[in-house]
Amino acid sequence: MTVVPPANAERLAERFGTPLYVFDGAAAARAAKGFQAAWGPNDTIAYSLKCNPLVGLVARLAGAGCATEVASGFEYRIARRAGVPGSRIIFNGPLKRPDELVRALREGATIILDGADQVRAAAAVAAEAAPQARIGLRVTPPWRERTDRFGVPSRMVAPAARMLARAGLTLTGLHMHLGAYQLGPLPPSGPPIHAVNVEYPVSVELFARMARVLRELADDVGGIEWLDLGGGWPAPWDLADHVSAVEAALGPDRPPLILEPGRALIRDAGWLLVRVVARRGRHAAIVDAGVTQVPCVLWKRSPVHPAAPRSGPERPTDLFGPLCLQHDAIAREVPLPPLAEGDLLWIGQTGAYAISQASPFIHPRAGAVLLEGEQAVMLRFPETDEEALGPQAEPLLTGPESRPMPV
Ligand SMILES: Cc1ncc(COP(=O)(O)O)c(C=O)c1O
Repeated sequence: MTVVPPANAERLAERFGTPLYVFDGAAAARAAKGFQAAWGPNDTIAYSLKCNPLVGLVARLAGAGCATEVASGFEYRIARRAGVPGSRIIFNGPLKRPDELVRALREGATIILDGADQVRAAAAVAAEAAPQARIGLRVTPPWRERTDRFGVPSRMVAPAARMLARAGLTLTGLHMHLGAYQLGPLPPSGPPIHAVNVEYPVSVELFARMARVLRELADDVGGIEWLDLGGGWPAPWDLADHVSAVEAALGPDRPPLILEPGRALIRDAGWLLVRVVARRGRHAAIVDAGVTQVPCVLWKRSPVHPAAPRSGPERPTDLFGPLCLQHDAIAREVPLPPLAEGDLLWIGQTGAYAISQASPFIHPRAGAVLLEGEQAVMLRFPETDEEALGPQAEPLLTGPESRPMPV
């Protein structure tokens, strides 16, 4: 599917400045609904918040029918702030602090325990669980048991279920996530932008293999009412083969599923609007956002579109950011017409793993807006110097307060 950049780049730049993250609310909602339609009405689509935690966007996806998958207490609190009730949150992650676990249990969340330590921790606070709280267990893909630090090996599922049962909790779900980052071999040639080569989406075959493992395990252990197949899915318009392979692998009377798509819902609905601040020869330019605003360009190529038509032949062009880093190139050798200072460019496919991983390195982080048709809604203001610095202790050079504190 061809994805066209938003209109009105000049007006957006004038009103909100650049660089600017721009999200298309209708496109994200369309993706969420398409993803739901590709599965079934009893399956839960839980938007993976880590790939873009902007509160307004999380709320927009919740409004389009998504539950929310979170991987920490911090993300849990973001989801709650976006208005997602505990009963619509899937709580993942290898670190759940005791107070965070208790809150999620009390609020009726679905909690995916990530290891024997978390099974013990949940058993210890079992009395706190609201009736609608659900307990699942993350299982390591059997072919990765020696190398994967997430989840428990299959043989641990039955003992974990028994330990939970003794504490009064029922294990009702199994979870597996194949990873958003499947590392492939580095390309043999091409512009040197990629630190790694990320294979996305996860292949049909691997998802089918995972589904078979989970179904067999669920049948062996008994009492399993739902399966969570994690993230790594393609966009809804490319999903049909994945769905039919997984359905076939699960067989008849499959349990309801939880799916945790991140990129599939939001990658193509997000854009970074940047301005050319200087030219460097005929085939290179410096723009006002670097790789720290869009870290995803370090492992994938993003399409680049001039915001207004430009005349002249297209030539492979490098777009460098303003950071003092040799590898600060947000696009390499992209075919572009001759650029002039002040030109606006759209960097595409930057909805996922850009703003969530951005850092105020050398420049503070950009603001973000949500487009709803002709309307733009501010989602996050550009970071001020104070916000980028955070609440730092002032160095006290005189007086008794300047004495170092004993530790
Ligand atoms: C447990 C879990 N679920 C879902 C996702 C989302 O993955 P993706 O954005 O590739 O769909 C991730 C990403 O790392 C994850 O760790």
